[in-house]
Amino acid sequence: MAELRGSFSSRIGFIAAAAGSAVGLGNIWKFPYETGTHGGAAFLLVYIFCAFVICMPIMVAEITMGRHAQLNPHGTFKKLGGGKWGIVGIIGIIAGVMILSFYNVVAGWAFGYFLQIGFGDLLNQPDAADRLAHFLAQHPDKTAANFSFYGDYFGTYIANVTDNLIFSLAFMIGTAAIVAGGVQKGIERWTKILMPALVVVIVGLIIYALTLPNAMEGIRFYLVPDFTKIDSVTVYKALSQAFFSLSLGMGALITYGSYFGKKDNIVSSAAIVTGADLTIAFLAGLLIFPLVFFQGMAPSEGPGLVFVALPAIFADMGPFMGRLIGGGFFLLLCFAALTSTISLLEVPVSYVTDEFKMKRKTGVILFATLIFVVGLPSMLSQGAVPWLTEFVTYGGQTRDFMTVVIDLFSDIALPLGGLLISLFVAYRWRIFRLSDEIEQGHPRFKGSFGEKFITIMLSVVSPLVVAVVLLETILQKFFGATLF
Ligand code: PHE
Repeated sequence: MAELRGSFSSRIGFIAAAAGSAVGLGNIWKFPYETGTHGGAAFLLVYIFCAFVICMPIMVAEITMGRHAQLNPHGTFKKLGGGKWGIVGIIGIIAGVMILSFYNVVAGWAFGYFLQIGFGDLLNQPDAADRLAHFLAQHPDKTAANFSFYGDYFGTYIANVTDNLIFSLAFMIGTAAIVAGGVQKGIERWTKILMPALVVVIVGLIIYALTLPNAMEGIRFYLVPDFTKIDSVTVYKALSQAFFSLSLGMGALITYGSYFGKKDNIVSSAAIVTGADLTIAFLAGLLIFPLVFFQGMAPSEGPGLVFVALPAIFADMGPFMGRLIGGGFFLLLCFAALTSTISLLEVPVSYVTDEFKMKRKTGVILFATLIFVVGLPSMLSQGAVPWLTEFVTYGGQTRDFMTVVIDLFSDIALPLGGLLISLFVAYRWRIFRLSDEIEQGHPRFKGSFGEKFITIMLSVVSPLVVAVVLLETILQKFFGATLF
């Protein structure tokens, strides 16, 4: 079996692939808007705690389970735990399918912005006058000062059916083509070059952003915590964001773990992946908030935050530099998203190739098509189709279809998966087996501080914290109630 599955060529290869999975739209698109909406620096602190303390041990657990079983998430749970545990793997696979369905839509937006900034005339603010006139006619109480070209543009862009269909289809085809070739070959090489490039561009832009008026207000919002802003929504949003950003709780890392070499150190690899993911999210915030305050935007703008804050800056850089840097930024964002979509598609594909001996190519075509179709209502729920845009009301808020998918499969299914993984490892598979597996590639693991920490976290702290937060999430979201 192991020979047939293929594996990463080296520890660096695994780290590159796992970090590629972790770093994506979650860091650059989702993290800034969640931070902006849920308390700025206070959110950041809770987030860092969740990532390193609560989630990292779960990451170690996922990778170790996958490496031990050499199987997809369903097969791994079934093999290590017996019959019914396989269901946990299935929940993870379904969550992965649903997450990819909306993620691919957002990746399509990023791809569209890349083309329009790099090669189109988005930076020249096409039809600005018409947009302004339309805005004033729609909002008689507002003046031109309230109008934001890129805010208005983003709103109409995501409601546009043709562009979104074409670009998200293109993105899904790209993902499918790479997964069809086998994940190990492509990603290692790319991630090693493109991720550092992304960091360089972001750091360069941060330096530029810090010179702008009001930048310091943004830095204060992002780095000086106001603890009165921490409420249970901050906590549950930070926790689910940590799971999402670290690709945790649905088996992506079980799957990648199954390709991980027996001689390699799982604990240090997990620490590096977590550190890289956190660093890139942190840098994204450091870039966005100065720009947001410079432009007088509200940090709680929501999912449009980066799509609105960044293009205006690229437009200021002049036609050549704007295209180059703006186009380059969105292109790198697309690559970051691609290494994540690859890991998401790999999960159901490894399931059908392992369990049903389906050919890899057939599995890829099947799931890429299915997921694209399942993503259509999310795509159309951003203004294109009114009933999908105002899909349901719960917890006192009307939500679009995409938000419902995020609520169910990211905010709930991922922490739930993390909870079940910790309980599974601690009380069914048992920590000593985990330690045995980690010990391969990490000879002094047993008896180390790391082992004690992971044991305590997986058997007590993580399940307890995640269970309470999860209960609170459900109460808040669906019933507008709270435990506290
Ligand atoms: N971690 C990815 C990101 O931040 C998203 C993802 C979630 C990937 C779950 C795989 C599994 O963009």
